[in-house]
Amino acid sequence: MARIVAGVASSHVPAIGAAIDNKQTEEPYWKRVFSGFEKSKEWMKEAKPDVAIIVYNDHASAFSVEIVPTFALGCAAEFPPADEGWGPRPVPTVQGHPELASHIAQSVILDEFDLTICNKMEVDHGLTVPMNLLFGSPEEWPCPVIPLAVNVVLYPPPTGHRCYMLGKAIRKAVESYPEDLKVVIFGTGGMSHQISGPRAGLINSKFDKAFLDNLSKDPKKLTRIPHLEFMREAGAEGIEMVMWLIMRGALDDKVDEVYRFYTVPASNTAVGHIILENRRKAAGKRPAAGKLAGKTKRAAARKTIDIRRGGR
Ligand SMILES: [Fe+2]
Repeated sequence: MARIVAGVASSHVPAIGAAIDNKQTEEPYWKRVFSGFEKSKEWMKEAKPDVAIIVYNDHASAFSVEIVPTFALGCAAEFPPADEGWGPRPVPTVQGHPELASHIAQSVILDEFDLTICNKMEVDHGLTVPMNLLFGSPEEWPCPVIPLAVNVVLYPPPTGHRCYMLGKAIRKAVESYPEDLKVVIFGTGGMSHQISGPRAGLINSKFDKAFLDNLSKDPKKLTRIPHLEFMREAGAEGIEMVMWLIMRGALDDKVDEVYRFYTVPASNTAVGHIILENRRKAAGKRPAAGKLAGKTKRAAARKTIDIRRGGR
């Protein structure tokens, strides 16, 4: 049986991708951001998922604003990096997992979540930046990926509750897949930011911190946040955080928070990151996710790295 062993949330700021592509990661401004993901890369190397499901949003790259699906599942064999205006990012083509993706589509649609099925799709920074942050910059990505694109660019986006329930349906789908696959699910985007208008540059560290706390311990509380509250408290683009609730819905009710990182700003965005592991012992020979953390000593890893600069 396939199973979801852990969830990862990470901002997907495009400037982070540009810093990687332009080899600026050692510059003091960027080192502050990238150093927060060093432990995460170690964790990911040990977790060694067979497949990653990455929940992200397309930024008018694969889909123009003429057609904007609410939930679009990538069922293709591969997903090339999109040209976002400066040529495609110099990252490997993302390999898909059409068999598991089709199985998820079948299960989730029959559970009454009306996914758009994408048999051809390019992927933008929303997906590739978190991959860099967690997998580094290898010549080939270490595992196949199932992209799930969520509309958070054209109102109305789905509610946090809808996203959370979709996560549960995805988990059910994964657990009914017969092959023994270890799956990690990503929620990406956020945290607080606004890129235009009079409040451009808005960052709300207090809101972000509470969101991270509740994501770990009381996610149902987050499912009740209305869109207007996201906009008011976290800026117009803060609505991206509903995507984190798909990841959280796919995990156990009670999880172990093994790592957290928060820093502001990166470009004009608050960067948040968290790793949550399922507690449930998996059946079969493979060790549970907690054991996979290995060197990531739980007590030490729980220590929050919370670097704040200029937040409000
Ligand atoms: Fe985004």
